[in-house]
Amino acid sequence: MRKLAISLSKGGVGKTTTAVNLAHGLALAGLQVLLVDTDTQGQASRALGQRPEVGLADVLAGDLQPQKAITQAREGLWLLAGGRALSGAKREIDRRAFGGEQVLAEALDPLEGQYELVILDTAPGLDSLGVNVLFYAQEVLAPVSLEVLTLQGLVDFQQNVQAVKRYHRELELRYILPTFMDGRVKKSQEILEQLQAHYGQLLCQPIRYSVRLSEAPGYGQTVFEYAPGSSGAQDYQALTERIIQDAR
Ligand SMILES: Nc1ncnc2c1ncn2[C@@H]1O[C@H](COP(=O)(O)OP(=O)(O)OP(=O)(O)O)[C@@H](O)[C@H]1O
Ligand SMILES: [Mg+2]
Repeated sequence: MRKLAISLSKGGVGKTTTAVNLAHGLALAGLQVLLVDTDTQGQASRALGQRPEVGLADVLAGDLQPQKAITQAREGLWLLAGGRALSGAKREIDRRAFGGEQVLAEALDPLEGQYELVILDTAPGLDSLGVNVLFYAQEVLAPVSLEVLTLQGLVDFQQNVQAVKRYHRELELRYILPTFMDGRVKKSQEILEQLQAHYGQLLCQPIRYSVRLSEAPGYGQTVFEYAPGSSGAQDYQALTERIIQDAR
């Protein structure tokens, strides 16, 4: 079971957009996918048009078995919802004297082997739940916005991943995904070249700026449903194929 975290400390870089559309792309390709939303904003549910009454918070609180808290969102796509209720879980984790970073991994352990891929969306700012995600995942995909990239932010994040890796050896920063690519803007191209020079093989084909991508969640649809012919759908399809190719 692959466990892929969509993570970067910076906000608004396309984490949720990537988590939701990649998860659906993989499900459409025939994989059994679980999307776990670890953000108190709970945007992943909304983007899929779901309003589950239970979710990750109930699992972390020990009130529900994970299987009982999961909702089916599409064929092949299951959702463990985030949302405001996670604030309590976060406080609980912060209060622990030790072992706090393993709470999510322990809570999700019963799901081992039940899906082919688990995709985890994270909140901006690498809060305690975000750290928990890094202790659970094996692979990290970091979306970086070509509009506002600070390479330093990425370097800092990479150091956090390295720090976790000392305790959780399986963890690997595996993908850098440029987002908000605008071919007409020279800066986009320059940042892309910088990323290429620093990250080579880790770099994925960029996700272009696409109004369709920003509209789709308002309709509770993924880009493959809302605008299948759009550049956004093409770009997330290319990402989906890369992730499938790299199956280990
Ligand atoms: N390629 C794109 N083109 C145009 N708009 C996009 C693109 N990707 C994401 N957006 C829009 O940009 C906004 C931020 O994206 P998103 O919510 O995915 O970022 P995030 O990293 O999850 O943010 P947060 O850190 O707050 O969780 C959203 O309104 C989303 O619809
Ligand atoms: Mg988000």
